[in-house]
Amino acid sequence: MKVIGYSASPRKEGNTAWVVNKILEGAHEQGAETQSWSSSDLEIKPCRGCLACHKGARGCVINDDMQDIYAALAQADALVLGSPIYMGQMSGQAKIFTDRLFAQISPRFSPHYKEENAGKKLILAFTQGNPDPGRFQVYIDYTKHMFQLLEFDVIAVPVVAGLRTESAQERTELHAVMKEIGSSLVAERAPEE
Ligand SMILES: Cc1cc2nc3c(=O)[nH]c(=O)nc-3n(C[C@H](O)[C@H](O)[C@H](O)COP(=O)(O)O)c2cc1C
Repeated sequence: MKVIGYSASPRKEGNTAWVVNKILEGAHEQGAETQSWSSSDLEIKPCRGCLACHKGARGCVINDDMQDIYAALAQADALVLGSPIYMGQMSGQAKIFTDRLFAQISPRFSPHYKEENAGKKLILAFTQGNPDPGRFQVYIDYTKHMFQLLEFDVIAVPVVAGLRTESAQERTELHAVMKEIGSSLVAERAPEE
């Protein structure tokens, strides 16, 4: 099984990257091959809306680092997408990444869709300063639904809250919880959300 992680935070060693990498660690311990990406290392431009991905046979024509992600995603069984909550929503980096999936993912959006893309597993992980993990629940449920429309099999949507003054890494109880979410990707059955 191949699992790729994408941390859509400008802080390469921040909370979101830590959460994504802990989840990948759990998957790796169960035998998954893992690869981790950070938006801070990559140049990923916004979708141009040119719809070239619908006209030709080449997929997205923007020649940037998203091409490497498309290639990795095509081979992957699961994606761990992490984003900090910015102004009550996913970060701009996460939104750009999501818009760029338009070229690739669902048959309703892409002529390049292949049956084997159906049901790729997704863990959507958020980190936030607000201590109430339910504070942005309406947005989080909406976003989960949007990824389900893109035909991802959304396995878990962890929200790590209360990160105003402490880092995720300092919260020792989170280590096992995040690794367990990763190992559930490899296991037959997903845990309760
Ligand atoms: C521009 C900006 C906007 C933010 N907006 C929110 C917010 O609306 N709600 C919240 O709870 N935390 C908010 N935060 C806090 C971050 O979500 C939180 O610190 C997160 O864990 C940062 O992740 P990182 O360490 O990966 O950068 C914001 C932080 C920044 C920099």
